[in-house]
Amino acid sequence: MVSLKIMNKNLEIKNPEEIGEYLGKIGIQYERWNWEKLSSEDASQEEILEAYAREIGKLKEQGGYVTADVIDINKKTENLGAMLEKFNREHWHDEDEVRYTLKGHGLFHIRTEDGDILVIEVERGDLLRVLRGTKHWFNLCSDMEIRAIRLFQQKSGWTPYYTGSRADEKFQPLCFGPSFIKNAVSRD
Ligand code: LAC
Ligand code: NI
Repeated sequence: MVSLKIMNKNLEIKNPEEIGEYLGKIGIQYERWNWEKLSSEDASQEEILEAYAREIGKLKEQGGYVTADVIDINKKTENLGAMLEKFNREHWHDEDEVRYTLKGHGLFHIRTEDGDILVIEVERGDLLRVLRGTKHWFNLCSDMEIRAIRLFQQKSGWTPYYTGSRADEKFQPLCFGPSFIKNAVSRD
C-alpha cells in the first residue's frame, strides 16, 4: 500500500504496519502478501489462482468465501468508462469486498461509521478486506490498470447498492503513486 489518508483529520500514514493497525481497529483488514509467486505479471487467471491457493484458502475459511476470480482492468478493457462509472460512486455490497492487488493501482475511498473519509491506495502485494455494508467508492490511477484477485460469499457475485449521497463528488481521487486521474469519462 502506498498510503492511508484520513481526509477529514488531515492525517496520512505510510508505514504498512501502522496502516494495518489503524484499519484493523475499524474492521478493515489490510495485509501485505508476497507477490513474487508468479512467473510473469501477465500470468493467466488459472495460474494466479493456483499460485495463491493457500492464501485464498485461508481467506475462504476466515470469511466464508466460496469463489475467487481475477479481475483485469486496463486501457484496453472494453467499455472501460462504463465499468469505472459503476465503481466511482458511493456504494455498498451485501458481501465483503476482498481484493488482492497483483498489478496496477487503485484508490478506495471509504466512509466509516464515524463519518471519517479514508483514502486507501493499493498496489501490488496489498490485500484489503472491507466488510459488507461499508460505504465506499473506487477509482483507478493514471496507469489506468488494476489486476486483482477477488473473493465472493455468493456465487452470483456482488451487486453495488448506490447511496446517492454524492459524497464521492467532494473528493478528488488523488493517487499518490502514479499521478492523478479524475475519471476516464466525465459524469455529466
Ligand atoms: C467494487 C469496488 C471496486 O465494487 O468497489 O468492485
Ligand atoms: Ni465496491
